[in-house]
Amino acid sequence: MGEPSTPEAAPVDPAAPLLLFDSGVGGLSVLAEVRKLLPDAPVIYAADNAGLPYGDKTEAQIAARVSGLLGRMTERLRPRLVCIACNTASTIALAAVREVLEVPIVGTVPAIKPAAALTQTGVIGLLGTAATIRQGYVDRLEAEFAADKLLLRHGAPELVAAAEATLRGHPVDPAVYARAAAGLTSQPGGERIDAVVLACTHFPLVAAELGAAFGPDVQLIDGAAGIARRIGFLTREQSFISKVPDLALFTRGDDNHVELDPVLARYGLMDRGVF
Ligand code: DGL
Repeated sequence: MGEPSTPEAAPVDPAAPLLLFDSGVGGLSVLAEVRKLLPDAPVIYAADNAGLPYGDKTEAQIAARVSGLLGRMTERLRPRLVCIACNTASTIALAAVREVLEVPIVGTVPAIKPAAALTQTGVIGLLGTAATIRQGYVDRLEAEFAADKLLLRHGAPELVAAAEATLRGHPVDPAVYARAAAGLTSQPGGERIDAVVLACTHFPLVAAELGAAFGPDVQLIDGAAGIARRIGFLTREQSFISKVPDLALFTRGDDNHVELDPVLARYGLMDRGVF
C-alpha cells in the first residue's frame, strides 16, 4: 500500500473567466498585457464606475466597496482568478479581500522595485491617486526596495479623469500633464528624477502625454506586464475555452458607454452590461 494521496484540487472549468476589476477604464492597461500573454483566456472586465474615483475616498469606504463588490461578483460570475487591476484598491484592500474570498487574487502594487533597479540618479518619482500615495503599503515597498533612493510622491487625481476622457475621445488640456510632472519635479531633488512609477492603472493609458510632459530623460514604469506574468503563472496548468464573448460590466449604467464601445472592442470586450 502506498501513501494516501493528498486530495487534488478540483479541475478549473476551461470556460471560467479571469475577472479584472478597477474603478473605471484603468484596468484596461493591465488587460492589454494579459491579452498578450494569455490570448485565449476568457475575461470579464468589471468597472465600478459608480464608485469612481476611488482615489478621493477614505480607506474604509474603499475597503468596504471593493470587498462587497468582489464578494458578489465572484459568487455570481465564478471567475477562476480575480485581478484587482487598481493600485488604490490593492494597496488598501488586498489583504482583506484575500481573507474572505477563496479564489486566487492578484493585486496591482506600485512598481517601485523595477524603478529602483533602473534609476541612475537615485531619484524616483511616484504618481498615484491621493489615497495610494499615503498608504503604508507604499512605505513598506519603499523601505524594502528603495531605502537607498529618494522616492518623491505626488497624488494626481486629474490624470484619472484625463484617462477616462481620453478613452472616450474627449479632448484634455495638456496643462493637466504638465501639472502632474511639475508636482514631482518641483519637489526638492525632483530635477534629478529619471524614473517615474505610474502607480495607478489609469496612467499608462496616457503614457504618451505624460512622457511628453516629463521629457526624454525620464522613464515611465508600470507593473502591468509583471501582473500578467503572475496571472500566467497561477493559471499555468489550466486550459481556456471561450464560450461567450468577453464582457465588460459597469456598476452604473448611465455613463456614456456608447463612447467606450470602440475602446472596449479594441481590448476584445464585445459585450457590456450593468452589474
Ligand atoms: N485605477 C485606479 C488605480 O490604479 C484608481 C482610479 C481612481 O481614483 O478610481 O489606482
